[in-house]
Amino acid sequence: MDKNFYITTPIYYPSARPHMGHAYSSIIADFFSRFKSIDGYKVHFLTGTDEHGLKIQRSAEKQGLDPIKFCNQISETFRDLSKTLNLTNTDFIRTTEDRHKKTVQHLWKELEKNDHIYLSNYSGWYSVSDEAFYNEDEIEEVDGKKISITSKSAVEWIEEESYFFRLSKWEKPLLEFYEKNPEFISPSSRRNEVISFVKSGLKDLSVSRKSFSWGVQVPGNKNHVIYVWLDALTNYISALNYPNKEDELFKKFWPASLHLIGKDILRFHAIYWPAFLLAAKIELPKKVYGHGWILSGDEKMSKSKGNILDPLQIIDEYGLDPLRYYLIKEVSFGNDGNISQDRLEDCINSDLANNYGNLCQRVTAFAIKNCDGKIPEKIKFEDDDFNILNKFKDNLENIRSKIDQQDLNFYIDYIVNSLFEANKYFNDQEPWKKKDDITRLNTIVFTSLEIIRKISFLLYPIIPGSVLKALKIFNLGENDIKLEDVSKNEFLIKGNSINKIDILFKKIEKDND
Ligand code: ME8
Ligand code: MG
Repeated sequence: MDKNFYITTPIYYPSARPHMGHAYSSIIADFFSRFKSIDGYKVHFLTGTDEHGLKIQRSAEKQGLDPIKFCNQISETFRDLSKTLNLTNTDFIRTTEDRHKKTVQHLWKELEKNDHIYLSNYSGWYSVSDEAFYNEDEIEEVDGKKISITSKSAVEWIEEESYFFRLSKWEKPLLEFYEKNPEFISPSSRRNEVISFVKSGLKDLSVSRKSFSWGVQVPGNKNHVIYVWLDALTNYISALNYPNKEDELFKKFWPASLHLIGKDILRFHAIYWPAFLLAAKIELPKKVYGHGWILSGDEKMSKSKGNILDPLQIIDEYGLDPLRYYLIKEVSFGNDGNISQDRLEDCINSDLANNYGNLCQRVTAFAIKNCDGKIPEKIKFEDDDFNILNKFKDNLENIRSKIDQQDLNFYIDYIVNSLFEANKYFNDQEPWKKKDDITRLNTIVFTSLEIIRKISFLLYPIIPGSVLKALKIFNLGENDIKLEDVSKNEFLIKGNSINKIDILFKKIEKDND
């Protein structure tokens, strides 16, 4: 079977300064992308910017810019962000690109042709910030202002002619699909939430707007633009050159393996998107995973709330890999998580500097001094060595299957434990006391080096830059990293020289008050 993996992040609403929530979604997606790559998959990793709709039009107006000028500038900050976060994305899509607009219009025509779309009038609540319609029972009044209960963003009443998608028709087929594909919506708490929403009844969905023009035109009606979510969701297939089903990308990568999203946009991905696809007779993606929010205090961190820990500032101050590691370790994946600079510093000091960085330094320095700077040649494994080495092999299948269930928490715990055991092994074996038994000393050093190599391979999807620095110990590069080789106990070539490396992570001085 072909090993192909197609992962997407949400395409971001371009905003002048990306925030930690954006960084989080992207870093997690990059983790999965890199993990699958070293496991031999061909990976397509899509990200980009969502540039149409009233929200963007208004932001552009505020700055006195043409919407497209505004988008050109701001989309670039997200392209830069991908580089800053060291993402391995294989494409970056903008919804203002022709390749995308053509696909959206094609999809619209498909829906219209099969009578899934009709013209009528919409009246109801709309949040420009969420670009979402809300029912009366999803609205509350706070300080005389109507807001969405879930997102807390302001809603306004709109009444206008609009095209509708017959969403109500898909209530049953969707429920059947969720039933048959229990993992389609993950984690399961989110699945239950969606199922109960669908069961409570789906109304037809307004899918065009007439009162502004910044969007993809409805084919055959110049007065309407297509609803920005129908437009935006389609990016996942326009990037694969749909409707050309014979296209290599489409054939290889559709249906998507994983749409990774935040829980706030679950309804769009788990209800609207599959309904559009069902109506257009396109295969449904395999999974939608809704991760939690990065909180600041108890609130979702977001630009409109002004409670942002700026990822760019954090990266400037501490470096990228500490942030990647910290977000993956500290936010229990699937749930909301509070982050703080203080905890980030603890994480750098204990996990990265002490447990990983120091292990690399200690073992390398010892080997350079006592093994002639080479990977020891004469070795003889004993039970203690086999015990620790074989654990990796014994766990590999389990690790793979946990990752297929997006169990990042298991993965990071596994690494933290492995680092703990590795340090313990080196301490307990006391190679510095074995100078009169050179085979034993060699074997301990060899085993420790192999453990460093194995753990480094596993850490690569989390802290790729630092791991590449560490692997210079063995003259190994990115192409040498294969998950499969984590199970090998004698991967390192005996007699090859060992290189001294620079400090991987600097310890942070903390005031102890
Ligand atoms: O929703 N914590 O774009 P967006 C964690 N354009 N994740 C967060 C977050 C936080 N505090 N704040 C935002 C959109 N996110 C649409 C997507 S897809 C066809 C269109 C996540 O820029 C959020 O959950 O508002 C979403 O997954 C992503 O950032 C983009 O949010
Ligand atoms: Mg948002």
